Amino acid sequence: MENTENLKTEIVTAIKNASDIKTLEEIRVSVLGKKGKITELMKGLGALSVEEKKEMGKTLNILKSEVEAALEAQKKVLEAQELNRKLAAETIDVTLPIRPENQGRIHPVSKIYEEVVAIFGEMGFEVAEGPDIEDQFHNFNALNMPANHPARQMQDTFYIPNPDSDDFDDSYVVRTHTSPVQIRTMEAKRPPIRVIAPGRTYRSDYDATHTPMFHQVEGLVIDKNITMAHLKGCLYDFVKAFFELDEIPVRYRPSYFPFTEPSAEMDIGCKKTKTELKIGAGTDWLEILGCGMVHPRVLEAGGIDPNEYQGFAFGVGIDRLAMLKYGIPDLRTFFESDVRWLKHYGFLPLDESSMTGGLSNNGGMAR
Ligand code: DAH
Repeated sequence: MENTENLKTEIVTAIKNASDIKTLEEIRVSVLGKKGKITELMKGLGALSVEEKKEMGKTLNILKSEVEAALEAQKKVLEAQELNRKLAAETIDVTLPIRPENQGRIHPVSKIYEEVVAIFGEMGFEVAEGPDIEDQFHNFNALNMPANHPARQMQDTFYIPNPDSDDFDDSYVVRTHTSPVQIRTMEAKRPPIRVIAPGRTYRSDYDATHTPMFHQVEGLVIDKNITMAHLKGCLYDFVKAFFELDEIPVRYRPSYFPFTEPSAEMDIGCKKTKTELKIGAGTDWLEILGCGMVHPRVLEAGGIDPNEYQGFAFGVGIDRLAMLKYGIPDLRTFFESDVRWLKHYGFLPLDESSMTGGLSNNGGMAR
């Protein structure tokens, strides 16, 4: 009996002194393992008398469970210590500056997106959104392009089958332009409306200036007494701010879009040479966007009375703006995810675009 008391003190002391999980495991094996001290004592029980066996058996069982409890308790202590050590060692000082060589880059499309939002945000426009997968009503019909309308052929549409209907007119599309957000905005709010809707758009097209997925930003203004003069003033301010120029020649060419009447395309003045494109000077013109006065039928489709309200709208290709502003020759490279390309054409993450702090941050790209 006295022997087991001593043994218990000895083992429990060793357990409490164990400073790591490995030592603790060694103690467990030396006590409870196949050849452990307590195991050996239990093996010796067979040689004892029945009475002694009963008493010693009980004592050893108690000893065994006390040792097991001590092992378990110490294991918990050590695990907690280990976790705290790890947490302390892995602490990240978030106030440390970024290492330039590890810094990621903002994609030119994201940059232009930020710039456009900054410019129109300053003019009081809100940002609106719509789904990439659209129904034909929002993508076409409500925009004055009913089924079989020839204008539908202007856009090489990707259709998506509707699992609930075999009727082709019920199939969905991946939106071919951001214009359906005009309809969704009119459905959701009453005039005065001033929104821009940047986002992804899709058409079956692929060459140096077309990719199946690309980006547009839509603009929509609806209020009482809105005229083409508002459209011209707004877009003139936009191109000046966007190209960071005090003056820029612009012209509007008559055009056709089913959802606007009259419709126009806006050109900006530039100088084209074999190797260079200089925006803002020269005798050449560059098409920059489509625009017009919102067609009365489109207002009606959006639940707005065209006798009471008028509006103007415009649509710009974001990727095209990025190519022009930052001199990137091939659109397909935008979506190849080549880090060398991104390092060359991308922007530093902390150079945020704002009208007060600078749009493109001195027009300089990160090198
Ligand atoms: N949705 C047209 C396209 O993708 C662009 C466009 C033109 C949008 C004129 C407009 C607009 O809002 O008024 O080609």
